[in-house]
Amino acid sequence: MINIPKGTKDVLPSESYKWQFVEGVCRSVSKRFHLKEIRTPTFEHTELFQRGVGETTDVVTKEMYTFKDKGDRSITLKPEGTAGAARSFIENGMASGVLPVKMFYLTPAFRYERPQAGRLREFHQFGVEIFGAKGADTDAEAIMVADSLLKGLGIKVKLYVNSIGCPTCRARFNKALKEFFAPHLDELCYDCKTRFEKNPLRLLDCKEEGCKKINAGAPTILEYLCEECAAHFETLKEYLTAAGIEYEINPRIVRGLDYYTRTVFEFVSTSIGAQGTVCGGGRYDGLIEELGGNSVPAVGFAAGIERLLMVMEQTGSALPEEETPTVYLAGMDAACRKKAFTLCAFLRSAGVYAETDHMERSIKAQFKYADKIGAKYVAVIGGNELESGVMNVKCMATGESESVAFENASAYFLEK
Ligand code: HAM
Repeated sequence: MINIPKGTKDVLPSESYKWQFVEGVCRSVSKRFHLKEIRTPTFEHTELFQRGVGETTDVVTKEMYTFKDKGDRSITLKPEGTAGAARSFIENGMASGVLPVKMFYLTPAFRYERPQAGRLREFHQFGVEIFGAKGADTDAEAIMVADSLLKGLGIKVKLYVNSIGCPTCRARFNKALKEFFAPHLDELCYDCKTRFEKNPLRLLDCKEEGCKKINAGAPTILEYLCEECAAHFETLKEYLTAAGIEYEINPRIVRGLDYYTRTVFEFVSTSIGAQGTVCGGGRYDGLIEELGGNSVPAVGFAAGIERLLMVMEQTGSALPEEETPTVYLAGMDAACRKKAFTLCAFLRSAGVYAETDHMERSIKAQFKYADKIGAKYVAVIGGNELESGVMNVKCMATGESESVAFENASAYFLEK
């Protein structure tokens, strides 16, 4: 038997309605915020992520699915959605169109991580990217999209916000971090030694216990923000308060990807453990230029669909019942089954959710099956019904029956 690759999951026919529900909420929230869908390829040139996500990030150094294609090009399965959206924004000249460009996506993403609950090698993201607006009101709006989504799904979270400043404040902060960490260099993990040299901000993000202990005393970025970045952060807070969105400032949030500037934020579920971050994002004013476009400010976030579903299932929130057939048509014998088959086809073409027997089951077994699949009504076609053109329709919830002529069946069930 060939098994599913480690860190991937099937969405089974019995489960897919949950995905459709979550995706439906993503789409309807996007519409209300005037976000339009973008679909970019599942794979891109490796260089896009190296330059976009950042050479020193865990994603690029350890987690990418990278391979040579038959034309000897280095190709990478997208580890996230922002870089591809930004590439498309530049390549399609969207900067010279009407701004802002507000987009969303639902996409698979691939990271070679150690799989555990809520952490997969193929996972799915709902992401939002807004290009062209530099004000903190837009950061607040991105946060409001995520907030509306989470509320729409009945997920309780805590919102943490921070500012990691611009390259100017970052340079000063990196210097302060280096001064703080230098005496502890020997105690840091192998990765943090590299981070110390190449990207000190990442030191704050380390999950190793030893490093976490040292981190606790490190300086925080908010003390190092330049005037403009501090003002931007103040405005963000004002807008969030005005929108009635509760948040907590957490100066430890630095995010795992290199493109962020100024605002960063995470929504963390209080009901699941280690992989509680259901949604993360921030502003990335330098990315478009880094990828070869003109300077265009941008802000966005992504939420992991699997994590959203995990929280929903664990907290028993808002998942709707799966839609079930309106009617199951049972046939007594071969001729009646044929009538059930054609009537079923007729009802379906009229828009009725209808099902009939495909397993040559007895009438009793057909009733059992109809009950199992949750059919709301069962109509039995026997010799009498064939002759009279009228069938007995039983409501499975109440047990009550009604006579319905074949010719009136579609109107009858459409109304149900
Ligand atoms: P990220 O924090 O790397 O940000 O991922 C966003 C979300 O994707 C996470 O909060 C989590 O729910 C989900 N996720 C990430 N990795 C995994 C995994 N291995 N298994 C399951 N779920 C996972 C980004 O990807 C940025 N592109 C977000 C963004 C958009 N920033 C600005 N615009």
